[in-house]
Amino acid sequence: MKSIVILISGRGSNMQAILEARLPVKIAAVISSNPNAHGLEIARQHGIPAHALNHRDHETREEFDTALAARIAGFNPDLVVLAGFMRILTPNFVNDYNGRLINIHPSLLPAFTGLNTHARALTEGVKIHGCTVHFVTPNLDKGPIIIQAAVPVLPGDTEETLGARVLEQEHKIYPQAIRWFAEDRLTVTPDCNVILQNQQPVETALRSPWEPQ
Ligand code: GRF
Repeated sequence: MKSIVILISGRGSNMQAILEARLPVKIAAVISSNPNAHGLEIARQHGIPAHALNHRDHETREEFDTALAARIAGFNPDLVVLAGFMRILTPNFVNDYNGRLINIHPSLLPAFTGLNTHARALTEGVKIHGCTVHFVTPNLDKGPIIIQAAVPVLPGDTEETLGARVLEQEHKIYPQAIRWFAEDRLTVTPDCNVILQNQQPVETALRSPWEPQ
């Protein structure tokens, strides 16, 4: 069975969804860059070893990443899962984990890379928003896309209501992506597209605004 290490920095709701999805993986550890992360508590309640590695104890990004890499290596995971991990990782770290490091981002990438994605989606007036799970490459929020979920932007939406609608989908697609990884069904092509092996083609569409035809 493959094993994973989950990196968090805060609330840990994606981590919780992964812990509760009964995936065919061993969850070796949860590591938080923030010792006060609520997610650490949740991990311990699930019986998962939970460690804090405070980024403030390290003077440079490189030093923190070296310590983080050493901590992760102790668990020898097949996959490292960034779940609300709020640190930008150095290219050295990312390259060492090429093909074994995934992230969830709260937008339909490549739209709205970076922070405050829901507020920016509302400002731009997009009618469809969503979330993305992708392999991590040194280019922030630019790695090969594994799965996306789209939600409508509804009249009267606020950053909070839209964010909650997206988060509900995050909790579905992140466990799904890890399941595919565990099943060895993900292949990254030389031009950085992800192919899902044995995919059942289904034709469907999300239109927004929606009215019956
Ligand atoms: C999520 O919206 C995730 O997409 C982003 O950070 C947030 C983390 O939330 N990267 P949680 O800690 O998983 O609840």
